[in-house]
Amino acid sequence: MLVASGLVKHYGGVTALDGVGITLDAGEVHALVGENGAGKSTLVKIISGVVRPEGGTIDLDGAAVRFADARQAAAQGVAIVSQELMTYDDLTVLENLFPYGAPRRRGLVSTREMRRLAEPVLDELGIDPPPHIRAGDLPLADRQLLEICRALLQEPRVLILDEPTSALPRAAADRLADVTWRLAERGLAVLYISHFLEEVMRIATRVTVLRDGRVVLPGADAADVDLDALVTAMLGQPAGGPAAPAAVPAAAPRRPGGAAVSLTGVTVPGRLRDVSLTAAEGEIVGLAGLQGAGHLAVLDAVCGRARPSPGSVRLPDGRSPRSARHAVTAGVAYISGDRKGRGLMLDKPLWENITTVSWLGQGRGGFLPRRSRLVDRSRGHLERLRIRGDVRARASDLSGGNQQKVVLAKWLDADPSVLALDDPTRGVDVGARTELHAIVRGLAAEGKVVLIASSDLAELVELCHRVVVFQHGRVVGSLSGGRLTEPELSLAMNAGFAGSAR
Ligand SMILES: Nc1ncnc2c1ncn2[C@@H]1O[C@H](COP(=O)(O)OP(=O)(O)OP(=O)(O)O)[C@@H](O)[C@H]1O
Ligand SMILES: [Mg+2]
Repeated sequence: MLVASGLVKHYGGVTALDGVGITLDAGEVHALVGENGAGKSTLVKIISGVVRPEGGTIDLDGAAVRFADARQAAAQGVAIVSQELMTYDDLTVLENLFPYGAPRRRGLVSTREMRRLAEPVLDELGIDPPPHIRAGDLPLADRQLLEICRALLQEPRVLILDEPTSALPRAAADRLADVTWRLAERGLAVLYISHFLEEVMRIATRVTVLRDGRVVLPGADAADVDLDALVTAMLGQPAGGPAAPAAVPAAAPRRPGGAAVSLTGVTVPGRLRDVSLTAAEGEIVGLAGLQGAGHLAVLDAVCGRARPSPGSVRLPDGRSPRSARHAVTAGVAYISGDRKGRGLMLDKPLWENITTVSWLGQGRGGFLPRRSRLVDRSRGHLERLRIRGDVRARASDLSGGNQQKVVLAKWLDADPSVLALDDPTRGVDVGARTELHAIVRGLAAEGKVVLIASSDLAELVELCHRVVVFQHGRVVGSLSGGRLTEPELSLAMNAGFAGSAR
């Protein structure tokens, strides 16, 4: 249905694509994988008319096409849901669904007609947002699904999904997998980018791997490729190779019992009810729950973004966080995988992004370190986290996953005493995920307190000493040791601990 070949794209001195080709057949789910910065988004942006290549061709049904923009591509049946969320936050849900012109009746925009068209698609995706609500007021997952809905309403023949599940909770991701299959059965060609490799293997019929702007595995039958082979192709070496850090098991907390962070009888109206919880120096404590269960409110309370009433939160220095800014100066780092909330200064160079927090933390009394020193220090972080980008490049020029790593670098640079992590590895490739986990374990071993929420249950199981489970704003129990497994955790989140020993 679609054949791209010889695509070339440079950004300044960076070769994003170096003669890349891909074929998409009707009725297939074709996975595209590769490390952060490998060129995946660049490839799909070219196919969908968002970016123009310097060389190469695209054929649709055997005829050469050249899209001037995404709208032209959409008109010819190529729709993309891009990695960056593109909802129009001030428009309503319905208005968001018809970006290229709302359906009209007798010359007037017809809300009724919009609803009639949208409802079956919203149903299929399993969301039911009030149609007149502002899209910006929807939770991240719903905004992601809204964009997928928008793409489907264009009735595409080629549907491109660039990390569609990175913002979705498990249940929604499963539903999306079903939808993807059904679309392929109807004869669409689906091109699917994801860093969740198990998910990729489950739903893809074929897989293409990119590395450093080149195809290293072209359209292989997914049944013939196992996970190890996939990782080896992506990284250019097996996962356990010399450049891949070993998965160091979390050392036992240094001072078990000595509470460094504590919540006492904390209620946050509408979110948390009478929660008490402690985390010791050196401890990695997981916070788990379904949407709205209260586990994320704990992070907000620790970061000074939600006020307990009543109740109190104490940080390692004995003080309570009075505001988000105060929490930062008290040594709390808040790292979120939410692309909207990552707080990068996109038009500023990486070194400035990385060094701002520690600078802020020094207060006005500190003297400004030499710029060259900041640049050197930043370069160290780039190497440690294997961020692909020059220290002087603007943050906006980095791939999605590399931007996420810069967020981490910026907080690590501030040398926090408490890490509050919310889905920190969302959108980050397997190599970097392992790397990041090793860093978190290292920081815990140095005596930092780590609180982590993650929609990736495997991440909690791998990383945490103990996971506290929430339901309806309350703590319902915790899991550790041999009981800390994915199935147990999932069961506890969904059904609580009724009938089982705590
Ligand atoms: N607008 C841009 N300006 C400059 N460089 C860019 C731009 N967009 C992408 N790049 C560079 O091109 C390369 C490929 O980026 P791309 O976004 O295609 O990677 P990706 O495979 O999608 O990575 P990720 O998994 O992190 O999303 C990277 O080195 C990136 O820094
Ligand atoms: Mg990308």
